Amino acid sequence: MFDINDIRSQFPILERSVYNRPLVYLDNAATSQTPRRVVEAIEKSYFETKANVHRGVFSVSQEATELMEATRTRVQKYIGAAAREEIIFTRGTTEAINLVAATYGGTFFHDGDEVIVTVMEHHANIVPWQLLQSRVKITLRPVSLNEKGEVNMDEYRSMFNANTKFVAVCHTSNVLGTINPVKEMISIAHSHGVPVLIDGAQAVAHERIDVQELDADFYAFSSHKMYGPTGVGVLYGKLKHLQAMPPYQGGGEMIDQVSFEKTTFAEPPLRFEAGTPDFVDIAAFSLAMDFLEEVGVENIAAHERELTQYATRRMIEEIPGVRIFGTSEYK
Ligand SMILES: Cc1ncc(COP(=O)(O)O)c(C=O)c1O
Repeated sequence: MFDINDIRSQFPILERSVYNRPLVYLDNAATSQTPRRVVEAIEKSYFETKANVHRGVFSVSQEATELMEATRTRVQKYIGAAAREEIIFTRGTTEAINLVAATYGGTFFHDGDEVIVTVMEHHANIVPWQLLQSRVKITLRPVSLNEKGEVNMDEYRSMFNANTKFVAVCHTSNVLGTINPVKEMISIAHSHGVPVLIDGAQAVAHERIDVQELDADFYAFSSHKMYGPTGVGVLYGKLKHLQAMPPYQGGGEMIDQVSFEKTTFAEPPLRFEAGTPDFVDIAAFSLAMDFLEEVGVENIAAHERELTQYATRRMIEEIPGVRIFGTSEYK
């Protein structure tokens, strides 16, 4: 399938020891480690192509811009988006969801509207909707789970009513490992005319994502959970939604024309990327996607499943009274 020693050798951190033993790192759900090529790309950017993007007419600035924009195209291909304008760079999944809550929610939600989530959401997909409640009186409606830690689909179906305005659910749970049937959940929401945001933070490094096949309206994820640099995330949005949304923050890059009387805004994606982006890390993110493709997300998922089964078996056999939460077969 793959050579584990070859893969290990690409991660310098695994050469260190902790408590006089070789480091074993299993916290990929929180953040994954970074292969050498990604760090080398960051170093190369700082040493050779550091100049601000989208504004300089000199060659180094253009090189930096090309590297950043090549990553946008790389992400577009990686998740099967229809257009590169649908890829917005953010600081991470958290900022991507906050952006949608503040701009889409702030524009299109009205008092009395309901947003469906699940009880397995990360705080990043709960609190942004609650913050919005200070602007519009929306209700958050969490779908419950069954004893295996799976979404109760009958309950989900029954929650749609005339007030349902939006669905925001995780693709894979960071707590339970459950993979939600998001394609089906999107299709049910769309049959009621309701758009859906998928929090893909835990899914992108474990399965092939095709946003068009899923028909997701928004899809959010973080580079640092995909063997990429910290400080970079992606918000995918269907162009029709992005074009209808106001800017998230004001500043450089996101404007068309500025005067003291009136400012007009750039088209997506730049409309949502105010200020100097993290162009060094964005450029290096491409190398992380190369790594993922080389090893194969399916292989990564299979290896992790094997480790999980091994750990689960040993825990049940050797720790009396242990109870495992999240026993869905969809994980
Ligand atoms: C499911 C899920 N959503 C959102 C996040 C937030 O990601 P970030 O901290 O990279 O913005 C995480 C991080 O653990 C997560 O697991």
